[in-house]
Amino acid sequence: MCGIVGYVGPKKVAPLLLEGLKRLEYRGYDSAGLAIMNGKGVETRKVAGKISRLESLISAKPISGTLGIGHTRWATHGAPNEANAHPHVDEKHEFAVVHNGIIENAGSLRRKLEDLGHVFTSETDTEVLVHLIEAAFDGSLEDAVIEALHQVEGAYGIAVVSSRDPHKIVAARKGSPLLVGLGDGEHYVASDASAILAHTREVVYLHDGDLAVLDRSGYRIIGLDSLTQTRKVSKIDWDLAQMERGGFAHFMLKEIFEQPQTVASTLAGRLLLNTATAKLAGTNLSDEDLLAIDNIVITACGTSWHSGLIGEHMIEESARIPVEVEYASEFRYRNPIVNDRTLCIVISQSGETADTLAAMREAQRRGARTLGIVNVVGSTIARDAAAGIYLHAGPEIGVASTKAFTSQVVALALLTLKMARLRDLSVIRGREIIDALQALPGHIQQILDRAPEIEALAEEFKRAQNFLYLGRGYNFPTALEGALKLKEISYIHAEGYPAAEMKHGPIALIDELMPVVFIAPHDSVFDKVASNVQEVKARKGRVIAITSREEPSLAGKIDYEFRIPETIDMLTPVLAAIPLQLLAYYIAVKRGSNVDQPRNLAKSVTVE
Ligand code: F6R
Repeated sequence: MCGIVGYVGPKKVAPLLLEGLKRLEYRGYDSAGLAIMNGKGVETRKVAGKISRLESLISAKPISGTLGIGHTRWATHGAPNEANAHPHVDEKHEFAVVHNGIIENAGSLRRKLEDLGHVFTSETDTEVLVHLIEAAFDGSLEDAVIEALHQVEGAYGIAVVSSRDPHKIVAARKGSPLLVGLGDGEHYVASDASAILAHTREVVYLHDGDLAVLDRSGYRIIGLDSLTQTRKVSKIDWDLAQMERGGFAHFMLKEIFEQPQTVASTLAGRLLLNTATAKLAGTNLSDEDLLAIDNIVITACGTSWHSGLIGEHMIEESARIPVEVEYASEFRYRNPIVNDRTLCIVISQSGETADTLAAMREAQRRGARTLGIVNVVGSTIARDAAAGIYLHAGPEIGVASTKAFTSQVVALALLTLKMARLRDLSVIRGREIIDALQALPGHIQQILDRAPEIEALAEEFKRAQNFLYLGRGYNFPTALEGALKLKEISYIHAEGYPAAEMKHGPIALIDELMPVVFIAPHDSVFDKVASNVQEVKARKGRVIAITSREEPSLAGKIDYEFRIPETIDMLTPVLAAIPLQLLAYYIAVKRGSNVDQPRNLAKSVTVE
């Protein structure tokens, strides 16, 4: 989720790259750097922090040249410091690489390269690429890049320069976007057109497996088999503001639509098919440590607390470890019963929420092991938790959390799988969970492809004053999350409830004006939820149902149905959340709310 920009042409490259990086800063902003061909070799400037710091460094220590690459980072492997900032270079500073994505086999490649004498200076997965390219170089930069890419597994968008083949930039993509910008006697490469839109509107989008070779006079696109590829030139009509949001009207919508990729990133490299378990490299918890846990406390706020409730259900059902879920703001002032056999799971997108951080410190003070499930790398919770699982979902800019929620649930499913397989979950059941996890990105995409149906539903309900969201089992937390999404961005009063609990009070609210959203996939509690639908319909409520198959028991009882693909029970919240996010989004837009910055809210609540 970082940003890449590169330029070759007659102009001074440093200001061009800085300008492009500023345009990309919304994608990642924890460190940045440039590599420029200065006529003698590859010269770099790198900083931890924002692009403005890189700009100050370059005014204090200028570099000149007309060919170079730049990067703004959103850390995945290693803390956001100068050593881990891109570009990465080889020992002799002859090659430089910038990279977006994750190299999954970086660990084993690094060990092999170190055995051959390569010296690494960062903790990043990216650094293996530059050493592989240097080792493979035999006169042609593109040939060396191809050879290196044949050895890596994972996702990448890269740009590479070298003083040993000094007039070109080589770029390649697999799973991470990259495009070539066309100018007159000049060419650009960028991860996102916003970086170069001020200079050209003619671009060539690279496909997965493409490699582009750019110099002043032209560009070529080849495959990893070195054969020439023909790609069409596209003209961009969007303005810059639209561009940063990838053409979406709001960051929230962009982030909702990113979920097939963000869920895939959370899973990347973490599923072990043979042993039907999960590999969670950052947890620092050995199998013995995990087996020694007597109980788990999950603490979080808001949306992250909702994913915690789903985690509770998963862990208790499959790993059979008792779990309690606590609002961090309550936990910190109670006298909680935790000890050194308690695992405290701390869930936070930002990693900076004050109450969650304080709850984590309280658990640590009482001797509990802490495990952070965090999106922002290098954030306080990520740094200070004893163990961690990063979401790898990329920056979430819309205030309402969407892609972080689905990735949190997926991360909890991975942790559940790991702990359950250490206890008594069978290989067969483990494989079923893995298959279902792997199918999620495709299922999410199928739902997103039908977003216009939800938009039409939003038109129908945009004037409602109240909403009730009902679900049971795994989808009671989904009901809470659906209600929270709606209220925080549309300002419509909404409540989430366990569907059966409705009879104990909220049923009094139901009349022909009350929309009731049922989360009713075909899971183990479906029949129970179907009875609750009947109860609402008998009181003339307007029923919107998220289902997963044709259900005769609901015939005539539902006013609006949206069907999601089937999956195993524990993953239904991931799929059910998507139409609920879209419903909240479209209703809010139709009511004229500022969905990316709703009133009174902040992205990261760093006060108590
Ligand atoms: C709701 C939302 C908030 C956050 C909460 C915790 O859409 O975004 O409820 O989930 O403030 O934030 P993190 O996860 O950053 O600790």
